[in-house]
Amino acid sequence: MTEQPTPGGTNAVSPPSIIRPPRDVRDIAHIGHAELLTPTPEASLAYFTGLLGLTVVAEASDSVYLRGHGDYEAYCLKLTAGDHAGLGHMALRTWGPEALARRVQWLKDAGIDGAWVEPDAGKGPAYEFTDPDGHNVRIYYETSKYRGLVEAEDDRPAMKSNHQRYRGRGANVRRLEHVNLMARDVRACRSFWEDGFALRTLEIIRREDGSEDGAWLSSTVQGHEVIYVRDYLEGRGRLHHLAFWVDSREDVLRTADLMNDANVPIEAGPSRHIPIQGFYLYTREPGGNRIEVCSGGYLGFDPDDEPVVWTAAEYAAKPGWGARLPSTFRSYGTPGTGAAEESVTADWPSPAGLGPAWP
Ligand SMILES: [Fe+2]
Repeated sequence: MTEQPTPGGTNAVSPPSIIRPPRDVRDIAHIGHAELLTPTPEASLAYFTGLLGLTVVAEASDSVYLRGHGDYEAYCLKLTAGDHAGLGHMALRTWGPEALARRVQWLKDAGIDGAWVEPDAGKGPAYEFTDPDGHNVRIYYETSKYRGLVEAEDDRPAMKSNHQRYRGRGANVRRLEHVNLMARDVRACRSFWEDGFALRTLEIIRREDGSEDGAWLSSTVQGHEVIYVRDYLEGRGRLHHLAFWVDSREDVLRTADLMNDANVPIEAGPSRHIPIQGFYLYTREPGGNRIEVCSGGYLGFDPDDEPVVWTAAEYAAKPGWGARLPSTFRSYGTPGTGAAEESVTADWPSPAGLGPAWP
């Protein structure tokens, strides 16, 4: 800790939580995976394998581990049976064991409770803690590379620079792209990741009173990996959505065709977001969790950039093209709060009133 002289002549001790890592110290390498809870595990698994095109790599008692074809790690999604939908945890990989130790020490110095958890299907040990809104987060370094885990002849790619044979199944998603979390205090969550983990903030929506409606953060040049949006229903630890990457905007449009013919209601898109400019399509998997398939958006290369700050009025004026997001985007998250407005879905009925047909 650093002692700072004060005008009164006494020494005040700066709390560790405001000692920010230098911007060129990047202990977090990238987002690794998310655990999704679902009350309908079989139907959810069919959605993620048949429609999104993920591959099952491991199973445990209540969980299935799935990967996109571009993942160098074994998996990017852990699907776990539960009594409600929502986020089990999200996990970020560090650059090395020393980086992991530094971040754990920062958490301890900041007085944030946490605990080590055993390796999980080849990833870990991990240190688990909660962000300021109560979402479970894990950081880890040790991991299993996919080619080291699976020896199957029929999964071997022609080029050794690929990790898995190209299947082209369903939406054929490549990897988990970002996790979008709802929070009562977006600004506190953003500061937590900036101060503790040197994540960069690329865009912010800020009101005149200084409170924030959204913040887009990343540990890489990717425009977003961890996003916070305001929880207007004042829930706690809720998930807004997980997003999976496809290689082109055309692939997003193709995913819309797949979802439409599977009678899966499309909540939003295909269209382009204002922040980061990602091209999106939103549906909900059978358990109720909102899932995005995305592509495009810009990359952030400038090491000394400052976040783009939108006022609430600027954001509401919608400076980009495309449809406006539905009202459910401000209310629906998982788990639900029981409020009436989060069940309003009349603006995105399923085709011809048919129920979804999970593959
Ligand atoms: Fe998103």
